[in-house]
Amino acid sequence: MIYLDNAATSWPKPELVYETLGSFLRHSGANPGRSGHRMAVSAAGTIDRTRARLAALFNAPAPERVIFTLNATDALNFALKGVLSAGDHAVSTMMEHNSVRRPLRAMEAQGVATTKVPANPEGFVSPDDIREALRPNTQLIALTHASNVNGALQPIADVAEIARDHGALLLVDGAQTAGTVQIDMAHLGIDLLAIPGHKALMGPPGTGALLLGDRVDLDELNTVREGGTGGNSEEDTQPRELPARYEAGTHNTVGIAALGAALDVLSDIGFDEAGQHELDMTFRLIEGLVGQEGVNVLNPNDTSRHVAVVSITVDGWEPAEFGATLDSAFDIACRTGLHCAPEACQALGAFPLGTIRLSPGYWTTPDEIDQAVHAVRELARAPLGMTT
Ligand code: ALA
Repeated sequence: MIYLDNAATSWPKPELVYETLGSFLRHSGANPGRSGHRMAVSAAGTIDRTRARLAALFNAPAPERVIFTLNATDALNFALKGVLSAGDHAVSTMMEHNSVRRPLRAMEAQGVATTKVPANPEGFVSPDDIREALRPNTQLIALTHASNVNGALQPIADVAEIARDHGALLLVDGAQTAGTVQIDMAHLGIDLLAIPGHKALMGPPGTGALLLGDRVDLDELNTVREGGTGGNSEEDTQPRELPARYEAGTHNTVGIAALGAALDVLSDIGFDEAGQHELDMTFRLIEGLVGQEGVNVLNPNDTSRHVAVVSITVDGWEPAEFGATLDSAFDIACRTGLHCAPEACQALGAFPLGTIRLSPGYWTTPDEIDQAVHAVRELARAPLGMTT
């Protein structure tokens, strides 16, 4: 199978990730931070090590400012619901995934006002539009780092400056960039960074984190989940200390251990090298598809401004049907439809059917890309009647 669905989750995982999932659960699977026995202490050490590595990778102010979550959606929910209260205003964009769009919609019913700024037909958001959307009570700007539909990289540093000048916080959805694009939170001015562990970071599903910059203080960020933390048990309120304040309940220890293993592998490969390989495969794919009759590539023209996600539509084909045929006739796995980002598809002119999304990963080879190009060209030449 040719797996071109790495924007949904990376696959395969490094061998060390598979091994760690088995060995950690078998030999170190105690509950960290709860009991004092050696296996629990060792499990806590593994969690702390992964936490420290993520803090260093994204230049968060301190390891305890890395809060483990289930995935990027969980991190985004926590950030939005933690920062915003009734009477506040938030700015988001048409390029956001449902993991921002839906929580904000739900919060509107609770008295949070929102403004959504448009994107141009290449999927870019203008910092000026974001500035114009600000109100005196704007507490948060939520912006995806790169679109999961067409990979468009947004001008994070410019928006961060606007947020800072206004006294608002900037929440960045790093679902498509964490592990493949350098993200220096301090340098870029990101206040809250939501990341998945299972995409370019190559960890298992069920892992993610919210990283808190130093402008986020604990009085600004409400808890959204309360419960046991292993300490201060006599109190009926969450402890103030990080990360326990925001990490109630038993961790996904085995997943976090395996994410740590994935970070080891990636650091041996080199994060820049891994990211560059994904981009090389992406550009090879785009080069093979641009100009082909019947194939419309929806990526930005500027190759320096997108990540390893390619979206196309093909004349005469519904995306879902095209993807199913790629799978059944060519053994190529991709994702089709609206990609949980319907307004991004609208901006790109691909609503309501959406797109055919091909997303290379670190393990994708040039030969696989060439086979995918060949398959798309073959199907694009197929008679239109094939779709009925
Ligand atoms: N958000 C993931 C995607 O874009 C699942 O496919």
